[in-house]
Amino acid sequence: MNQIDLDDMHSMVKAFPEMLVSIQIPKETRDLCVKLREVGLRGICVIGMGGSSIAGQYIQALLRESATVPIINVHDSNLPAYVDNSWVTIAVSYSGNTEETLASHEEAKKRGCQTFVIASGGKLISDDKIMSCITLPSDYQPRAAFPLIFSAVLHLVECLIGRELTDLSMIRETLTKKVTQWEASSMAPKVMAEDFLYSVPVFIGSRHLSPVAYRAKCQINENAKAIAFSSEIPEANHNEIESFHGENDHSVLPVFLRSVFEGERLMQRFDITTEIYEEEGFRPIRISIGSSSRIEEALLMTYYLDMVSVELADLRGVNPISVDRIMKLKSSLKQTE
Ligand code: F6R
Repeated sequence: MNQIDLDDMHSMVKAFPEMLVSIQIPKETRDLCVKLREVGLRGICVIGMGGSSIAGQYIQALLRESATVPIINVHDSNLPAYVDNSWVTIAVSYSGNTEETLASHEEAKKRGCQTFVIASGGKLISDDKIMSCITLPSDYQPRAAFPLIFSAVLHLVECLIGRELTDLSMIRETLTKKVTQWEASSMAPKVMAEDFLYSVPVFIGSRHLSPVAYRAKCQINENAKAIAFSSEIPEANHNEIESFHGENDHSVLPVFLRSVFEGERLMQRFDITTEIYEEEGFRPIRISIGSSSRIEEALLMTYYLDMVSVELADLRGVNPISVDRIMKLKSSLKQTE
């Protein structure tokens, strides 16, 4: 972690595997989670915006089939009415100062929820009890801190629902090995980025790869300052498919994120959708990365697409670190307070 150049997005993205294993949940926090589980928590609400919110979406999708309580995500300044004092909230804000996250976190405290916070500093940390607080290392770009945030949220939620903690060190090994293989193949991130240079990618995933599609869209937006979209199957089969019409803009590039865990029906949906898009004149790309678990597959694909986004930034001649328009918006809103 010491060798990461925090002014260089390539360096931060490269450190993805290492970041995945660098946050430990303190024993007192784990004990608190066990206690909350024993008294019968009714739901888990992950609060966050932008780069700090995406980890919650991954965890919701990955634990969808094993969690015995609802896991929801809130990307706004208010909470649904049903989040009451039998719920746990996890407020994630890398800066610790994001308006919407602070507002929802305050609301959770007023309602008597057990609140946890994950931040590198700011009001969120200063304001909370140490036992329910996970402090991230400072000076990263929030979106580059994804592996840190992901591991913290995952382990916190696993403790809360009584699931064995995922061994992220094995996944870290695979990520490190894969990057060398990708570089030496036609899958090299730089080569893939060239496909996105003169097109608008639409990342299409399913189940645990839906948040990966959304993350890819956001990384292309923020790092490469390029327009991108995301959607998911099967939902896209009931609306978006109509827009992949021969007379529409063929510079739109469907990028199918394919899982080795697709059941037969889902596989057929993806294959037939691909055929229809091809018949209409589009040139879909398929990205598939073999893996032994869903969680590893989601992380491998995220790591890969994160690298593609910074390569695309280079090709477009833009600085992947700066987020001028986000900063401008935040500061204009601040002046109106
Ligand atoms: C910037 C980024 C943004 C922020 C978002 C919320 O790198 O990714 O999407 O994550 O503006 O700010 P934080 O993460 O500080 O709560």
